[in-house]
Amino acid sequence: MDSQPAPPGFNYDESKVPDYTLPDPLLMEDGTRVTDAKTWREIRRPELLQLFETEVYGKAPGGKVNHQVKALSREQAALDGKATRMEFEISFPDAPDLKWYLLVFLPNSASRPVPGFLGLNFNGNHSIHPDPGIRLSTAWMRQGGKSPGVKDNRATEASRGESASRWPVDKIISRGYGLATIYYGDIDPDYDDGFQNGVHGTMDSFGRPRPAPDEWGSIAAWAWGLSRILDFIEVTGIDPHKVALLGHSRLGKTSLWAGARDERFALVISNDSGCGGAALSRRRFGETVARINTSFPHWFCGNFKKYDDNEDALPVDQHMLISLVAPRPVYIASAEEDVWADPRGEFLSAKHADPVYRLLGTGGLGEETMPDIDKPVGETIGYHIRSGKHDVTGFDWDQYLNFADRHLSGKKHDVP
Ligand code: GCU
Repeated sequence: MDSQPAPPGFNYDESKVPDYTLPDPLLMEDGTRVTDAKTWREIRRPELLQLFETEVYGKAPGGKVNHQVKALSREQAALDGKATRMEFEISFPDAPDLKWYLLVFLPNSASRPVPGFLGLNFNGNHSIHPDPGIRLSTAWMRQGGKSPGVKDNRATEASRGESASRWPVDKIISRGYGLATIYYGDIDPDYDDGFQNGVHGTMDSFGRPRPAPDEWGSIAAWAWGLSRILDFIEVTGIDPHKVALLGHSRLGKTSLWAGARDERFALVISNDSGCGGAALSRRRFGETVARINTSFPHWFCGNFKKYDDNEDALPVDQHMLISLVAPRPVYIASAEEDVWADPRGEFLSAKHADPVYRLLGTGGLGEETMPDIDKPVGETIGYHIRSGKHDVTGFDWDQYLNFADRHLSGKKHDVP
């Protein structure tokens, strides 16, 4: 398992995981046990949401935001005639510096609206497929080994299709699904600038230099952005009642938080999301709360720093985040060599969310022990640990497509 060297002082040794007691998702703050769906919905779910909001991710502004959606391009013969490719520009009259670009592929063979996957991407829309018709992002972009086409923090032509292995567009289309994606840095650039840029810096109500300790960090901002996309996704031809939200790594943390908050997302997928995503914080295995808050001080809200080296004081743990998606289908994926993300902690979160799924009348995960490598399990909570590294692979997508077939086809997802 230990293909990654552990950073100094960090634990990759299962025998050194401390004893811990997980908070019970079905035990209310006043000590009463939740025994029916109504109490979960009306009391416990709101309690937990509020705790995650104020102690972990931070509150995002509520209510509708004034925005305009402009169609930029439409190519009906994309992917050798199999798909229609569209791009949209989203602008905000109250925040003139903010512009988002949404890329959409729809299968030409399916009648509209179609069920679809929605996910943020790391390297710009043009990175997900080499199609030269896709607009090259002009936004600030992180630089690094995985995106050699990015120079001086801007994308170059060489970065087209760089992330294509993570976005099997042909396969998604041939299975009858649409795909919508947006560069996460359009919503909030991923670096710590004291929250000057992106949505933090431009929204009127949050226009002060730094959010308060219980207000949104970048993960909450990205999650908020996903909900804004969902507000208008219908115009693209994707069925707003059949949206599977998907994210990898920091964006897997984001998809879980977005899916927990916004019950309009019909299905939620977290790929290798690790600390602050699917992995239990109390295990302190791989990346810890203190480590993530130090390396990425802008991701979570200020209050989350209270739990640096103090995980037992957290009023929640990440199994409760997964339970907030219930009864909607959720898929948690790990990778064997991704020890930094703590695959066992990700599985245990899924397992400890199971009682909530069962209370709400679904099949939940239905597994007590971690499955073998490359053997997907679970009914309403799907889980697998695949062989290989931290990544999104064809194997991962095959499971997501099968899971979506099982849960999205035919039925309309009603928002409670
Ligand atoms: C780092 C970080 C993780 C995160 C990952 C990613 O490894 O420590 O928490 O999931 O980056 O988003 O790629």
